[in-house]
Amino acid sequence: MTQDQLKQAVARAAIDYIKPKLFSDSIIGVGTGSTANFFIDFLGEIKSQFSAAVASSEASAIRLKKLGIEVLDCNSVSELVVYVDGADESNAQLHLIKGGGAALTREKIVRAVSKEFVCIADESKWVDVLGKFPLPVEVIPMARSYVAREIVKLGGAPVYREGVVTDNGNVILDVYNLKITDAIALENTLNQITGVVTNGLFAAKGADVLLLGAKEGVRTIFPKN
Ligand code: A5P
Repeated sequence: MTQDQLKQAVARAAIDYIKPKLFSDSIIGVGTGSTANFFIDFLGEIKSQFSAAVASSEASAIRLKKLGIEVLDCNSVSELVVYVDGADESNAQLHLIKGGGAALTREKIVRAVSKEFVCIADESKWVDVLGKFPLPVEVIPMARSYVAREIVKLGGAPVYREGVVTDNGNVILDVYNLKITDAIALENTLNQITGVVTNGLFAAKGADVLLLGAKEGVRTIFPKN
């Protein structure tokens, strides 16, 4: 099976997982990236079974609208029944690294508003210790150098993602050389640096369930304490 076939399999599994939770007035959170794109495409098939979506990026909003799915402003929604999105890494606690596609801040907002976060990923994203994938940090442009210096003090090696401007008009630092053994602590520490909008650790509020695509099939994984 190719990686794309694994992504399609977990996207399909996510549709089956969320279907029983949907009512005609349900609003769902939809993520960003290649795995989320497969999910969006399948979502079109069941669009009559829910009301609307909130998207974590402009790109996903456009894709949803093309399928005839209404996309709402997050400010007009009090709760999302479920949020489905990919990840760049997950550990057994379902602490995640996200933001490879630079959508981390909106993803964190959608996650915060959602009752349940269903993460979908192929098995290449499964790790024992987070940090092999460089951790994205969204930064206010004028604070870029200051934030980079602060991250170096924490032992990270930040690299400016050149040419990328987020949907919020900010820039991304990708932080290498991190071996993240306490993801909640690092998530909080990074968010305390002045100029950081947020970082790509989803640990304080990680995934509630992970649908992990492997050659043997899709595994349903709940967080290990
Ligand atoms: C977007 O900013 C990310 O958080 C994505 O969810 C993550 O990078 C996974 O993307 P893929 O599904 O394309 O691997």
